[in-house]
Amino acid sequence: MMPDGYSSSKKTDDVCGQGTRMAMSMSRLRCMLRGIDLKAYLFLLVVVPISIVGIYVHGQKITYFLRPLWQSPPKPFVHIPHYYQMNVSMENLCRLHGWGIREYPRRVFDAVLFNNEVDLLTIRWKELYPYVTQFVLLESNSTFTGLHKPHFFATNRDRFGFVNSRLTYGTIGGRFRKGENPFVEEAYQRMALDQLLRIADIQDDDLLIMSDVDEIPSGHTIDLLRWCDDIPPVLHLHLKNYLYSFEFVWGHRSWRASVHRYRTGKTRYAHYRQSDYLLSDSGWHCSFCFRHISEFIFKMKAYSHYDRVRFSHFLNPKRIQDIICKGADLYDLLPEEYSFKEIIGNLGDLPHSFSAVHLPAYLLNNSDKYKFLLPGNCRRESG
Ligand SMILES: *[C@@H]1O[C@H](CO)[C@@H](O)[C@H](O)[C@H]1NC(C)=O
Ligand SMILES: *[C@@H]1O[C@H](CO)[C@@H](O)[C@H](O)[C@H]1NC(C)=O
Ligand SMILES: *[C@@H]1O[C@H](CO)[C@@H](O)[C@H](O)[C@H]1NC(C)=O
Repeated sequence: MMPDGYSSSKKTDDVCGQGTRMAMSMSRLRCMLRGIDLKAYLFLLVVVPISIVGIYVHGQKITYFLRPLWQSPPKPFVHIPHYYQMNVSMENLCRLHGWGIREYPRRVFDAVLFNNEVDLLTIRWKELYPYVTQFVLLESNSTFTGLHKPHFFATNRDRFGFVNSRLTYGTIGGRFRKGENPFVEEAYQRMALDQLLRIADIQDDDLLIMSDVDEIPSGHTIDLLRWCDDIPPVLHLHLKNYLYSFEFVWGHRSWRASVHRYRTGKTRYAHYRQSDYLLSDSGWHCSFCFRHISEFIFKMKAYSHYDRVRFSHFLNPKRIQDIICKGADLYDLLPEEYSFKEIIGNLGDLPHSFSAVHLPAYLLNNSDKYKFLLPGNCRRESG
């Protein structure tokens, strides 16, 4: 054992100690290189620069991935089981939920802040029309990020003639503050919506739906809530979540929409968590469900998450079209989840769904006009 070990280290010394000048300088270099661990070199020359570029390009992804470390999940909701079948009487439906039935239904107010979702607004209002007393819509000439926008509702007003007798419409001027957090403009617009609701003459115990245009409660859900007594004063709606169209079911939960029994001076229009109660399977949330590629670009630029558009090529129409057809992420981000298990479980493109069962009736009645929202029709019109 000993002699072997000795002879091998002797050989090494020889290589570094002797030979011609030329060979000597060559071998000295080799010796120096050997002196520093090769792995350390590799680290300095390859891994460090790649990491710097990687953090620059994917910084936001990295913070998303590490989210479970810096954010704990919110308190879980109390899930209220939801019963519905077309042929079951309202009295029975109320009783199944532990509620009684009223002698006459509550009045219902559906209030939205409008951006540019013309197609989804039509589907929403057609779905809710039989149950809603007053539609309340406010639009601004400013996006939440302080960009000027046209009054898209006003320019498409002729398409909404069917609600004219039940519509309270208002506009508000943007504040156009440069560099301000978009949530400030959003809060300002929601406050104006509270005023518009008073103008629409909302009263105590009327039902008020607070949701974005793309969060569509199903008609039967609103019918149930207007007919049953003793429903919770504030109830969030659990909506089936979709991305780009009803072809892609998006695992991410949707709970922000809520229904309130209005209390004068107390109820404030908001889009965050306001109660612990969540009524299951109450409708549809279809994010980025636009007809034209230009509407995707507008929305990406104009709304609260403009920070996610990290590179200008994200707004390239061809890229957007490819992403829509694949069910990939427009911002190339990771799923927003609270645990590594969920992040990893939701990685990759969304699977295609071939079910168009239980979608809004107006959509199926007018499938030729709204093909782009149905499975197998991901190509969008340009313009
Ligand atoms: C449901 O109601 C309709 C109309 O009242 C009736 O024609 C139909 O037979 C009912 N279906 C069932 C399964 O009870
Ligand atoms: C936005 O609307 C307000 C109120 O109508 C108006 O005073 C203002 O000039 C408008 N701003 C732009 C940029 O159009
Ligand atoms: C769908 O069409 C049927 C039959 O024409 C009609 O009774 C129903 O009201 C329509 N529903 C909607 C929401 O358009």
